Amino acid sequence: MEASSATVNDSLVGRVLAGKFQIEAFVGAGAMGSVYRARQLALDKVVAIKVLKPELATEAGFAARFKREAKAASSLDHPNSVLILDFGVEPDNLMYMAMEFLAGQNLSWLVSTAWPLPDDQIVSIMCQALSALARAHDVGVVHRDLKPDNIMILGERNDDGHPVVKVCDFGIAKLITRKSGGETRALTNLGMVLGTPEFMSPEQGRGEELDGRSDIYSLGVILFQILTGQLPFDSETPLGLVYKHAMEPLRPPIECNPNANPRLDGVVRRAMEKQSPTGHWTRSACSAPAPRRAAKCCRLARANMT
Ligand SMILES: Nc1ncnc2c1ncn2[C@@H]1O[C@H](COP(=O)(O)OP(=O)(O)OP(=O)(O)O)[C@@H](O)[C@H]1O
Ligand SMILES: [Mg+2]
Repeated sequence: MEASSATVNDSLVGRVLAGKFQIEAFVGAGAMGSVYRARQLALDKVVAIKVLKPELATEAGFAARFKREAKAASSLDHPNSVLILDFGVEPDNLMYMAMEFLAGQNLSWLVSTAWPLPDDQIVSIMCQALSALARAHDVGVVHRDLKPDNIMILGERNDDGHPVVKVCDFGIAKLITRKSGGETRALTNLGMVLGTPEFMSPEQGRGEELDGRSDIYSLGVILFQILTGQLPFDSETPLGLVYKHAMEPLRPPIECNPNANPRLDGVVRRAMEKQSPTGHWTRSACSAPAPRRAAKCCRLARANMT
Protein backbone atom coordinates (compact mmCIF):
# COMPACT_ATOMS: atom_id res chain seq x y z
CA MET A 1 0.00 0.00 0.00
CA GLU A 2 1.11 3.54 -0.66
CA ALA A 3 1.57 5.73 2.38
CA SER A 4 0.03 8.81 0.75
CA SER A 5 -2.82 7.03 -0.97
CA ALA A 6 -5.51 7.43 1.67
CA THR A 7 -5.88 11.20 1.32
CA VAL A 8 -5.80 11.13 -2.48
CA ASN A 9 -8.15 8.19 -2.73
CA ASP A 10 -10.62 9.33 -0.11
CA SER A 11 -11.77 11.97 -2.59
CA LEU A 12 -13.66 9.27 -4.51
CA VAL A 13 -15.70 8.14 -1.51
CA GLY A 14 -19.37 8.96 -2.13
CA ARG A 15 -19.01 9.12 -5.91
CA VAL A 16 -21.42 7.06 -8.02
CA LEU A 17 -19.94 5.42 -11.13
CA ALA A 18 -22.17 4.96 -14.20
CA GLY A 19 -25.19 5.53 -11.96
CA LYS A 20 -24.61 2.00 -10.62
CA PHE A 21 -21.83 1.76 -8.06
CA GLN A 22 -21.50 4.04 -5.05
CA ILE A 23 -17.99 4.14 -3.59
CA GLU A 24 -18.07 3.69 0.18
CA ALA A 25 -14.53 3.17 1.48
CA PHE A 26 -10.90 2.92 0.42
CA VAL A 27 -9.48 -0.62 0.75
CA GLY A 28 -5.94 -0.52 -0.59
CA ALA A 29 -3.65 0.72 -3.35
CA GLY A 30 -1.27 -1.00 -5.74
CA ALA A 31 0.90 -0.16 -8.72
CA MET A 32 -1.96 0.45 -11.11
CA GLY A 33 -4.67 1.92 -9.01
CA SER A 34 -6.75 1.70 -5.88
CA VAL A 35 -9.37 -0.70 -4.64
CA TYR A 36 -12.55 0.49 -2.90
CA ARG A 37 -15.49 -1.13 -1.23
CA ALA A 38 -18.63 0.02 -3.04
CA ARG A 39 -22.35 -0.69 -3.23
CA GLN A 40 -24.08 -1.92 -6.37
CA LEU A 41 -27.16 0.25 -6.01
CA ALA A 42 -29.71 -1.80 -7.98
CA LEU A 43 -29.01 -4.96 -5.98
CA ASP A 44 -27.94 -3.26 -2.72
CA LYS A 45 -24.88 -5.50 -2.81
CA VAL A 46 -21.31 -4.90 -1.63
CA VAL A 47 -18.76 -5.03 -4.46
CA ALA A 48 -15.13 -4.01 -4.94
CA ILE A 49 -14.15 -1.31 -7.42
CA LYS A 50 -10.65 -1.00 -8.81
CA VAL A 51 -9.98 2.49 -10.13
CA LEU A 52 -6.96 2.79 -12.40
CA LYS A 53 -4.46 5.58 -11.85
CA PRO A 54 -5.40 8.59 -14.01
CA GLU A 55 -1.80 8.89 -15.31
CA LEU A 56 -2.28 5.62 -17.19
CA ALA A 57 -5.11 7.06 -19.25
CA THR A 58 -2.87 9.60 -20.96
CA GLU A 59 -1.39 7.01 -23.33
CA ALA A 60 -3.14 6.87 -26.71
CA GLY A 61 -5.40 3.82 -27.08
CA PHE A 62 -5.21 2.98 -23.38
CA ALA A 63 -8.98 3.06 -22.81
CA ALA A 64 -9.52 0.62 -25.68
CA ARG A 65 -6.85 -1.73 -24.30
CA PHE A 66 -8.34 -1.45 -20.83
CA LYS A 67 -11.73 -2.52 -22.17
CA ARG A 68 -10.18 -5.41 -24.10
CA GLU A 69 -8.24 -6.72 -21.09
CA ALA A 70 -11.18 -6.22 -18.72
CA LYS A 71 -13.34 -8.20 -21.09
CA ALA A 72 -10.77 -11.03 -21.24
CA ALA A 73 -10.53 -11.07 -17.42
CA SER A 74 -14.31 -11.08 -17.10
CA SER A 75 -14.53 -14.19 -19.29
CA LEU A 76 -12.77 -16.19 -16.56
CA ASP A 77 -15.55 -17.97 -14.82
CA HIS A 78 -13.85 -20.03 -12.14
CA PRO A 79 -14.42 -20.44 -8.39
CA ASN A 80 -10.80 -19.48 -7.67
CA SER A 81 -10.66 -16.37 -9.88
CA VAL A 82 -12.14 -13.10 -8.72
CA LEU A 83 -15.40 -12.49 -10.55
CA ILE A 84 -15.37 -9.35 -12.71
CA LEU A 85 -18.86 -7.83 -12.73
CA ASP A 86 -18.50 -4.75 -14.91
CA PHE A 87 -16.04 -2.20 -16.18
CA GLY A 88 -16.22 1.21 -17.74
CA VAL A 89 -14.70 4.59 -18.48
CA GLU A 90 -16.34 7.67 -16.94
CA PRO A 91 -16.70 10.96 -18.88
CA ASP A 92 -13.69 12.36 -16.95
CA ASN A 93 -11.62 9.33 -18.13
CA LEU A 94 -11.74 7.52 -14.78
CA MET A 95 -11.41 3.83 -15.59
CA TYR A 96 -12.84 1.26 -13.23
CA MET A 97 -13.54 -2.41 -12.86
CA ALA A 98 -16.26 -3.77 -10.57
CA MET A 99 -15.53 -7.14 -8.95
CA GLU A 100 -16.98 -9.38 -6.29
CA PHE A 101 -15.91 -8.11 -2.87
CA LEU A 102 -13.51 -10.55 -1.25
CA ALA A 103 -13.81 -10.68 2.53
CA GLY A 104 -10.41 -11.84 3.70
CA GLN A 105 -6.70 -11.06 3.59
CA ASN A 106 -4.08 -11.44 0.93
CA LEU A 107 -1.40 -14.14 0.99
CA SER A 108 1.36 -11.62 1.91
CA TRP A 109 -0.48 -10.92 5.11
CA LEU A 110 -0.95 -14.65 5.82
CA VAL A 111 2.73 -15.45 5.28
CA SER A 112 3.88 -12.50 7.39
CA THR A 113 1.54 -13.28 10.29
CA ALA A 114 1.17 -17.07 10.30
CA TRP A 115 4.46 -18.52 8.94
CA PRO A 116 5.19 -21.45 8.89
CA LEU A 117 1.94 -22.61 7.33
CA PRO A 118 0.94 -26.28 7.72
CA ASP A 119 1.66 -28.42 4.65
CA ASP A 120 -1.98 -29.26 3.96
CA GLN A 121 -2.87 -25.56 3.94
CA ILE A 122 0.04 -24.85 1.56
CA VAL A 123 -1.17 -27.61 -0.78
CA SER A 124 -4.73 -26.27 -0.64
CA ILE A 125 -3.58 -22.72 -1.52
CA MET A 126 -1.40 -23.96 -4.38
CA CYS A 127 -4.01 -26.31 -5.84
CA GLN A 128 -6.69 -23.60 -5.81
CA ALA A 129 -4.38 -21.03 -7.43
CA LEU A 130 -3.25 -23.60 -10.02
CA SER A 131 -6.85 -24.48 -10.78
CA ALA A 132 -7.58 -20.81 -11.56
CA LEU A 133 -4.43 -20.64 -13.71
CA ALA A 134 -5.35 -23.80 -15.62
CA ARG A 135 -8.69 -22.27 -16.65
CA ALA A 136 -7.10 -18.94 -17.56
CA HIS A 137 -4.37 -20.55 -19.66
CA ASP A 138 -6.98 -22.72 -21.39
CA VAL A 139 -8.66 -19.55 -22.68
CA GLY A 140 -5.37 -17.79 -23.47
CA VAL A 141 -5.22 -15.41 -20.53
CA VAL A 142 -1.80 -15.10 -18.86
CA HIS A 143 -1.82 -13.47 -15.44
CA ARG A 144 1.59 -11.69 -15.70
CA ASP A 145 1.67 -10.32 -12.16
CA LEU A 146 1.26 -13.25 -9.82
CA LYS A 147 2.42 -12.33 -6.34
CA PRO A 148 1.10 -12.87 -2.80
CA ASP A 149 -0.73 -9.49 -2.90
CA ASN A 150 -2.83 -10.79 -5.79
CA ILE A 151 -3.88 -14.00 -4.03
CA MET A 152 -6.71 -13.50 -1.56
CA ILE A 153 -7.42 -15.94 1.28
CA LEU A 154 -11.06 -15.65 2.26
CA GLY A 155 -12.79 -16.15 5.59
CA GLU A 156 -15.12 -18.66 3.90
CA ARG A 157 -14.02 -22.33 3.85
CA ASN A 158 -14.00 -25.08 1.21
CA ASP A 159 -15.36 -28.59 1.67
CA ASP A 160 -11.81 -29.64 2.66
CA GLY A 161 -11.97 -27.19 5.60
CA HIS A 162 -9.39 -24.81 4.15
CA PRO A 163 -10.01 -21.15 3.30
CA VAL A 164 -11.20 -20.37 -0.23
CA VAL A 165 -8.46 -18.83 -2.40
CA LYS A 166 -9.14 -16.29 -5.15
CA VAL A 167 -6.61 -15.06 -7.68
CA CYS A 168 -7.02 -11.36 -8.56
CA ASP A 169 -5.87 -9.08 -11.37
CA PHE A 170 -5.65 -11.55 -14.25
CA GLY A 171 -4.05 -9.90 -17.27
CA ILE A 172 -4.18 -6.41 -15.85
CA ALA A 173 -0.39 -6.05 -15.98
CA LYS A 174 -0.62 -6.39 -19.76
CA LEU A 175 -2.12 -2.93 -19.84
CA ILE A 176 1.21 -1.43 -19.06
CA THR A 177 3.37 -3.33 -21.48
CA ARG A 178 4.02 -1.82 -24.84
CA LYS A 179 5.11 -3.20 -28.19
CA SER A 180 8.42 -1.76 -29.21
CA GLY A 181 10.58 -2.75 -32.18
CA GLY A 182 8.47 -5.86 -32.75
CA GLU A 183 8.83 -7.20 -29.23
CA THR A 184 6.74 -6.71 -26.15
CA ARG A 185 8.72 -4.97 -23.47
CA ALA A 186 7.91 -4.26 -19.86
CA LEU A 187 8.45 -0.56 -19.50
CA THR A 188 8.89 1.92 -16.74
CA ASN A 189 6.21 4.46 -17.33
CA LEU A 190 5.62 7.56 -15.27
CA GLY A 191 8.16 6.44 -12.68
CA MET A 192 6.46 3.13 -11.90
CA VAL A 193 8.20 -0.21 -11.96
CA LEU A 194 5.86 -2.48 -13.86
CA GLY A 195 5.34 -6.06 -12.98
CA THR A 196 6.91 -7.14 -9.72
CA PRO A 197 10.59 -8.09 -10.16
CA GLU A 198 10.65 -10.26 -7.03
CA PHE A 199 8.21 -12.68 -8.70
CA MET A 200 9.06 -12.20 -12.40
CA SER A 201 10.12 -15.08 -14.63
CA PRO A 202 13.45 -14.75 -16.49
CA GLU A 203 11.57 -14.36 -19.79
CA GLN A 204 9.36 -11.62 -18.38
CA GLY A 205 12.45 -9.80 -17.08
CA ARG A 206 13.92 -10.01 -20.58
CA GLY A 207 10.76 -8.43 -22.01
CA GLU A 208 9.90 -11.47 -24.14
CA GLU A 209 6.47 -12.52 -25.36
CA LEU A 210 4.92 -14.49 -22.48
CA ASP A 211 2.78 -17.56 -22.15
CA GLY A 212 1.40 -19.48 -19.17
CA ARG A 213 4.83 -20.88 -18.25
CA SER A 214 5.79 -17.48 -16.93
CA ASP A 215 2.89 -17.64 -14.44
CA ILE A 216 4.08 -21.07 -13.31
CA TYR A 217 7.53 -19.61 -12.55
CA SER A 218 5.95 -16.79 -10.52
CA LEU A 219 3.82 -19.27 -8.58
CA GLY A 220 7.05 -21.20 -7.91
CA VAL A 221 8.53 -18.04 -6.36
CA ILE A 222 5.40 -17.67 -4.24
CA LEU A 223 5.69 -21.28 -3.06
CA PHE A 224 9.38 -20.67 -2.26
CA GLN A 225 8.31 -17.78 -0.04
CA ILE A 226 5.54 -19.82 1.60
CA LEU A 227 7.99 -22.65 2.38
CA THR A 228 10.91 -20.57 3.61
CA GLY A 229 9.41 -17.26 4.78
CA GLN A 230 11.85 -15.48 2.45
CA LEU A 231 12.32 -14.62 -1.20
CA PRO A 232 14.69 -16.67 -3.36
CA PHE A 233 16.69 -13.67 -4.56
CA ASP A 234 17.51 -10.37 -2.98
CA SER A 235 18.83 -7.20 -4.55
CA GLU A 236 18.77 -3.49 -3.88
CA THR A 237 17.55 -2.72 -7.39
CA PRO A 238 14.76 -4.15 -9.61
CA LEU A 239 17.34 -4.76 -12.34
CA GLY A 240 19.47 -6.75 -9.91
CA LEU A 241 16.50 -9.00 -9.18
CA VAL A 242 15.77 -9.46 -12.88
CA TYR A 243 19.42 -10.46 -13.39
CA LYS A 244 19.36 -12.98 -10.53
CA HIS A 245 16.14 -14.63 -11.71
CA ALA A 246 17.76 -15.04 -15.13
CA MET A 247 21.27 -16.10 -14.08
CA GLU A 248 21.71 -17.06 -10.45
CA PRO A 249 21.25 -20.73 -9.52
CA LEU A 250 18.32 -21.30 -7.17
CA ARG A 251 19.11 -22.19 -3.58
CA PRO A 252 16.71 -25.09 -2.87
CA PRO A 253 13.97 -24.12 -0.39
CA ILE A 254 14.84 -27.09 1.80
CA GLU A 255 18.32 -25.61 2.39
CA CYS A 256 16.69 -22.41 3.66
CA ASN A 257 14.15 -24.33 5.75
CA PRO A 258 15.10 -27.97 6.52
CA ASN A 259 11.50 -28.53 7.68
CA ALA A 260 10.09 -27.80 4.22
CA ASN A 261 8.17 -30.68 2.64
CA PRO A 262 10.61 -32.37 0.17
CA ARG A 263 7.93 -32.82 -2.48
CA LEU A 264 6.95 -29.16 -2.31
CA ASP A 265 10.66 -28.32 -2.49
CA GLY A 266 10.70 -30.33 -5.73
CA VAL A 267 7.68 -28.42 -7.05
CA VAL A 268 9.50 -25.11 -6.51
CA ARG A 269 12.68 -26.33 -8.18
CA ARG A 270 10.81 -27.55 -11.22
CA ALA A 271 8.57 -24.49 -11.49
CA MET A 272 11.59 -22.20 -11.24
CA GLU A 273 13.78 -23.90 -13.86
CA LYS A 274 15.29 -21.05 -15.83
CA GLN A 275 14.99 -22.37 -19.36
CA SER A 276 11.36 -21.91 -20.29
CA PRO A 277 11.30 -24.26 -23.32
CA THR A 278 11.87 -27.21 -20.98
CA GLY A 279 11.24 -25.70 -17.59
CA HIS A 280 8.20 -24.39 -15.74
CA TRP A 281 6.48 -27.80 -16.20
CA THR A 282 6.03 -27.80 -19.95
CA ARG A 283 8.13 -30.31 -21.82
CA SER A 284 6.21 -30.72 -25.02
CA ALA A 285 3.26 -29.16 -26.76
CA CYS A 286 1.18 -32.31 -26.33
CA SER A 287 1.71 -32.74 -22.59
CA ALA A 288 -1.04 -31.91 -20.11
CA PRO A 289 -1.27 -28.19 -19.29
CA ALA A 290 1.44 -27.13 -16.85
CA PRO A 291 -0.86 -25.94 -14.04
CA ARG A 292 -2.61 -29.33 -13.90
CA ARG A 293 0.70 -31.20 -13.80
CA ALA A 294 2.01 -28.91 -11.09
CA ALA A 295 -1.20 -29.36 -9.08
CA LYS A 296 -0.82 -33.12 -9.34
CA CYS A 297 2.66 -32.87 -7.80
CA CYS A 298 1.34 -30.65 -5.00
CA ARG A 299 -1.35 -33.22 -4.27
CA LEU A 300 1.35 -35.89 -4.16
CA ALA A 301 3.02 -33.82 -1.46
CA ARG A 302 -0.21 -34.04 0.50
CA ALA A 303 -0.30 -37.83 -0.02
CA ASN A 304 3.24 -37.93 1.38
CA MET A 305 2.21 -36.27 4.63
CA THR A 306 1.92 -38.36 7.73
N1 LIG B 1 -11.96 -7.84 -5.02
C1 LIG B 1 -11.41 -7.40 -3.88
N2 LIG B 1 -12.12 -7.40 -2.73
C2 LIG B 1 -11.56 -6.96 -1.57
N3 LIG B 1 -10.29 -6.51 -1.45
C3 LIG B 1 -9.54 -6.49 -2.57
C4 LIG B 1 -10.04 -6.92 -3.83
N4 LIG B 1 -9.05 -6.80 -4.76
C5 LIG B 1 -8.00 -6.31 -4.09
N5 LIG B 1 -8.26 -6.11 -2.78
C6 LIG B 1 -7.38 -5.58 -1.75
O1 LIG B 1 -6.90 -4.32 -2.16
C7 LIG B 1 -5.48 -4.28 -2.10
C8 LIG B 1 -4.97 -3.42 -3.24
O2 LIG B 1 -5.17 -4.14 -4.44
P1 LIG B 1 -4.40 -3.74 -5.77
O3 LIG B 1 -4.67 -4.79 -6.78
O4 LIG B 1 -4.72 -2.32 -6.12
O5 LIG B 1 -2.87 -3.76 -5.34
P2 LIG B 1 -1.83 -4.92 -5.25
O6 LIG B 1 -2.50 -6.24 -5.49
O7 LIG B 1 -1.11 -4.75 -3.95
O8 LIG B 1 -0.81 -4.59 -6.41
P3 LIG B 1 -1.09 -4.59 -8.01
O9 LIG B 1 -1.53 -3.21 -8.39
O10 LIG B 1 0.24 -4.91 -8.59
O11 LIG B 1 -2.13 -5.63 -8.28
C9 LIG B 1 -5.05 -5.76 -2.19
O12 LIG B 1 -3.82 -6.02 -1.57
C10 LIG B 1 -6.17 -6.50 -1.51
O13 LIG B 1 -5.89 -6.63 -0.13
MG1 LIG C 1 -3.73 -6.59 -7.13
